[in-house]
Amino acid sequence: MCRCTTLSTSLTLSAILLAGCSVAPAPVSFKSEIKPLVDKYCTECHIQGGAGTEASGFLTDNYHNLMKGTKFGPVVVAGDPLSS
Ligand code: HEC
Repeated sequence: MCRCTTLSTSLTLSAILLAGCSVAPAPVSFKSEIKPLVDKYCTECHIQGGAGTEASGFLTDNYHNLMKGTKFGPVVVAGDPLSS
């Protein structure tokens, strides 16, 4: 009896949370969503003095350098998700 009430309460709560998400999708944030990924997969080599940066001039340590791209040209084009 008690357990049922708790279960349905938590189900209702998660339904509300899910609905809240779909009603107002948060815009993608560079700092909280992109930076951690780039740090995890790229910055290890694309940092000042790193192998990737030495070879291509591409630094991923901050937003400015990431948007600047390599010495050959830009890598990340804002608002153009299809070109990657
Ligand atoms: C293990 C080390 C390493 C990691 C991790 C790494 N890179 Fe690189 N990257 C390199 C090296 C070395 C080069 C230069 C070699 C070359 O141009 O073929 C390079 C070159 C590049 C270039 C220039 C390509 C070109 O044609 O000149 C881009 C863009 C790039 N990396 C993006 C990234 C991104 C984005 C990530 C993360 C998703 C990443 N790299 C992760 C080592 C790394």
